[in-house]
Amino acid sequence: MHFLVVGPGAMGCLFAARLKKAGYDVTLLDYIEERARRINDQGILIHGLSEKYRIKVPTVSGTFPSEPDLVLICVKSYKTRDAAQAIKQGIGPQTVLVTLQNGLGNVEILQEIFGEERVLGGVTAEGSTLLGTGEIRHAGQGETIVGPGRDPNGPAEKLVSAFNRAGFNSKSADHVNDLIWGKLIVNVGINPLTAITRLKNGRLPDLPGTRMVMEEAVKEAVAVARAKGVDLPYPDPLARVIEVCHATAVNVASMLQDVLKRRQTEIDAINGAIVREGKAMNIPTPVNFTLTSLVQAIQDSYAERVIGETLVA
Ligand code: PAF
Repeated sequence: MHFLVVGPGAMGCLFAARLKKAGYDVTLLDYIEERARRINDQGILIHGLSEKYRIKVPTVSGTFPSEPDLVLICVKSYKTRDAAQAIKQGIGPQTVLVTLQNGLGNVEILQEIFGEERVLGGVTAEGSTLLGTGEIRHAGQGETIVGPGRDPNGPAEKLVSAFNRAGFNSKSADHVNDLIWGKLIVNVGINPLTAITRLKNGRLPDLPGTRMVMEEAVKEAVAVARAKGVDLPYPDPLARVIEVCHATAVNVASMLQDVLKRRQTEIDAINGAIVREGKAMNIPTPVNFTLTSLVQAIQDSYAERVIGETLVA
């Protein structure tokens, strides 16, 4: 089975390295030529949970070996459309595309470009942090669920068995949209608060200020989800968000990682998506609107940050 992994970020490197280590034919695609060359030369370095290892993964920019069986889209959600357009010419009629990205809209973009039948969605609770070019810390293991998985000989089952062989804890599910919303609500409650306060996940439920904003943001997102008929994969959404905060207490959430690296964040596909969906159904989402606006202001003004200046009276 030949995998094309698109995007050498924290998740792209983790999946590419583990699949390659398990013996699969893997190509990593990076749109930045110089970075692709470095990863290709040096390999991917994983600071794992129990071991540290380096593995060579063929990494290319532009053209890639034709017609991979599976394409794993691991770019940030705001790059999904560009990445899909960039690979469109090189993939065959049988190629299946998979997204495990954060946020709303990734499955829909891929379906629009490649057709509904060839796109799998899903979620992953693997924790991975990008330390440098082709270097990651695998911070925690969690379940990876893909689907729809109705056909026992279908692509979801093949992918699940490849993931499991590569050491992931994976299964298939039918209603991936519910799972994507389930993960979305966790990100809604955690990510922008970490980006604004620069706190690790574990502190958010403890401080009265972040706890209150989290509760309100989650409440709004749940109202939108319910109005859309989403069946969330847990009974108590706030309890789930707090549980994830504790389970990932020492994590630097992906949105805070983006802010620390002065990069664009995924706010638009997370809290921004709740605002858009709410608006379409006349459901007020003022807290998500405020969080979205603040994170947008942060990412639009990195060069102007006031850091440790001496203030004169
Ligand atoms: O985006 C992230 O960082 C993760 O999805 C989560 C669950 C918030 C943990 O840090």
